[in-house]
Amino acid sequence: MKVCACQNVTLDDIVEAMQTVGNDAEAIRKYTDAGRGCSECLQTPCDDVDLPFPDALLNAQALLEQRQNR
Ligand code: FES
Repeated sequence: MKVCACQNVTLDDIVEAMQTVGNDAEAIRKYTDAGRGCSECLQTPCDDVDLPFPDALLNAQALLEQRQNR
């Protein structure tokens, strides 16, 4: 799922960032470069991407919690 079109960031990239730098949104943005461009993906809703950054954070956190509970 595309999270940031300008920087070609996917949900998998957000998950990886969260595992590396933790849950801080700003740290995840810096790690992935998400939002460094038009900034549209930082807003919800955003028609340019599958999953805007704020929603991607929630999805990534849920995915990691699911993996931990297995
Ligand atoms: S879509 Fe993320 S900065 Fe443009």
